Amino acid sequence: MTSISTVEPSKLSKQQAIEELARLASMLSQADLDYHGKDSPSIDDASYDALKRRNKEIEKLFPELKRPDSPTDKVGGPLADGFSKIKHSIRMLSLGNAFEQSDVVEFDQRIRKFLGMEDSDPLQYTAEPKIDGLSLSLRYEDGILISAATRGDGSTGENVTANAKMISNIPQKIENAPKILEVRGEVYMGHADFSKLNAAQEAVGGKGFANPRNAAAGSLRQLNADITKARPLSFFAYAWGEVSDPLAKTQMSAIARLKGFGFATNDLTQLCDGPSELVSHYHLIETARSDLGYDIDGVVYKVNDLELQRRLGFRSTTPRWAIAHKFAAELAWTRLEDIEIQVGRTGALSPVARLQPVTVGGVVVSNATLHNEDYIKGVDSKGAEIREGKDIRVGDLVQVYRAGDVIPKIADVDLSKRDPNARQFDFPEVCPKCQSAAVREGDDAVRRCTGGLICPAQAVEKLKHFVSRGAFDIEGLGAKQIETFYHDDQLPIREPADIFTLRSRDDSALTKLKNRDGWGGTSSRNLFDAIDDRRVIPLNKMIYALGIRNVGETAANLLARHYLNWTDFLAGVQDAASQAGPAWDDLLSIDGVGAVMATSLTQSLTHEQEFASIARLAEELTIEPVEPVAQSESPVAGQTVVFTGTLEKMSRAEAKARAESLGAKVSGSVSAKTNLLIAGPGAGSKATKAAALGIKVIDEDEWIVLIGDV
Ligand code: IVH
Repeated sequence: MTSISTVEPSKLSKQQAIEELARLASMLSQADLDYHGKDSPSIDDASYDALKRRNKEIEKLFPELKRPDSPTDKVGGPLADGFSKIKHSIRMLSLGNAFEQSDVVEFDQRIRKFLGMEDSDPLQYTAEPKIDGLSLSLRYEDGILISAATRGDGSTGENVTANAKMISNIPQKIENAPKILEVRGEVYMGHADFSKLNAAQEAVGGKGFANPRNAAAGSLRQLNADITKARPLSFFAYAWGEVSDPLAKTQMSAIARLKGFGFATNDLTQLCDGPSELVSHYHLIETARSDLGYDIDGVVYKVNDLELQRRLGFRSTTPRWAIAHKFAAELAWTRLEDIEIQVGRTGALSPVARLQPVTVGGVVVSNATLHNEDYIKGVDSKGAEIREGKDIRVGDLVQVYRAGDVIPKIADVDLSKRDPNARQFDFPEVCPKCQSAAVREGDDAVRRCTGGLICPAQAVEKLKHFVSRGAFDIEGLGAKQIETFYHDDQLPIREPADIFTLRSRDDSALTKLKNRDGWGGTSSRNLFDAIDDRRVIPLNKMIYALGIRNVGETAANLLARHYLNWTDFLAGVQDAASQAGPAWDDLLSIDGVGAVMATSLTQSLTHEQEFASIARLAEELTIEPVEPVAQSESPVAGQTVVFTGTLEKMSRAEAKARAESLGAKVSGSVSAKTNLLIAGPGAGSKATKAAALGIKVIDEDEWIVLIGDV
């Protein structure tokens, strides 16, 4: 291998810099390949680091010369870190769930209300099997398959293009397609293929997959596409992402077009006139389920008219125009061997049932949640009986159920099989991890450890949440590694900021990490790089990552969209701590933020130690402000608007969604920050207040003209 140049980077001419960056990119990528090509690293760790450092220095001096394949941007080698990433041009979302017939009726009612439709107005839906596999987005440009990505976190997925090309029923080329076409659907493995694959794996002493879904995921997410090729995967197309020309006017005809392009689509897709037809088709599919030859876990309903789909739009992670009606959970009976208490990141003490392993719907289950202490006692949080008041004791025969991917639960207990020695469970009143008092506040069903940051369990869980998907999602730093780092004395991670000081903590950080079990030179360096990769983080992810009680991903998005940047977020929440005054009103004006969440926020961000830890973290980061949505031509972009009175042309929900999609903030109350009030008939105190504050007031027709919907 060529040796490293000794010319000072600052002495390099532009031409020399170009050549050297090219040479370094090729040397480093060769070194990565050699390392991962097993057992034959071509250079030692120190030289590798020196090359990388030099590359960075030159890039710093000549930023305009940074290569698209710059080693700086590479988080590790191609094999160790797996797949490169693909940003979805349109987010890949998940679906809301319905379990009962009444949920389906409510789904229809919600849609009608949003669209301002009467019960008697016709509204068609499609109903189709919900395939139990993993979703994939295929991008075609000029009819050629150019990339394939898994869903990932919805915004960014893994680049599995080489693997997708190995799936025989995915066309590589399509005729007469729009210039840009993203086809979305599910990769799955049929039952017969699954049995064959597992038999073959077991024959060579390997471990079989637990179910076809895992087998499909394990086969698609193979770093060596040849393995994918040998695995019998299939694909059903059921949706699309970016398209340069609309596919059709209805869901049904869009799917027919995908079929025309050569994609497999599901023949059980059916047009239905309303909830009762949807539910009939659901039962038909449920009956056919065992003979389909592949796993399904429910039926998906979608509004058929694509213009209505567009109007309905999306909530933060799910479309308003579709829902998954899940099949009833699978059940099994087994012995409850023990009850253990887990302490979560917000201090919640959660009882976990340790079970004699039992197969529930094809998956071996040995743990299940028992929710809280009342649930074990057989009462709900208000003291009313559940399970006819039967309590659950260690040693009991219990009924386990699981629906889809969710954590298995205990549904029932068989008293006729109760062992006379079965012991009642005494729910602890101190935290089993830190011995602090565990208390129940108000009518909260959950008992919580009061140890806060001194409780190691809370600290570890907070860290696990911090690195999880949706939050910082640091490659190579998952729950397992967090456990080890937390308990390590040499190179500990005890709070989020520690993650970012890991590399610079001391000169021998790399050596210390490399000497640990499971870590080598490259994986250690990759971890440091992956951490550096997250030093720039969008505001919504930062807020979510803090793991504040009651603040999930949706709430974090709402908060980020409201405050727009970290400084204003902190100031806004901290100023609201007195629970009165303009900052508190402003926090509560966010649609979706109630007093409970607002209190959690103010408590966390004004708690001295907790805030100090957050401040240490923020020091390490660049927190990206939110780009106001579509800071487009729309005159309402960036404005705070309030609707009041009756709207006659569209429902309040649709008006709000439309305003937000144009980049406006919709507030529930009028304040000095309000720019515009849209007042329909019957407007009352809000209109009066707006007038007093000199805020512009317009009616619905003027609003429609303003947003260009005429
Ligand atoms: S439609 C905008 N249709 O279920 C949402 N999804 O639980 C588009 N899935 O992420 C999804 N079969 O991976 C749709 N017939 C079907 C489906 C289906 C399976 C998966 C998909 C989605 C997940 C949500």
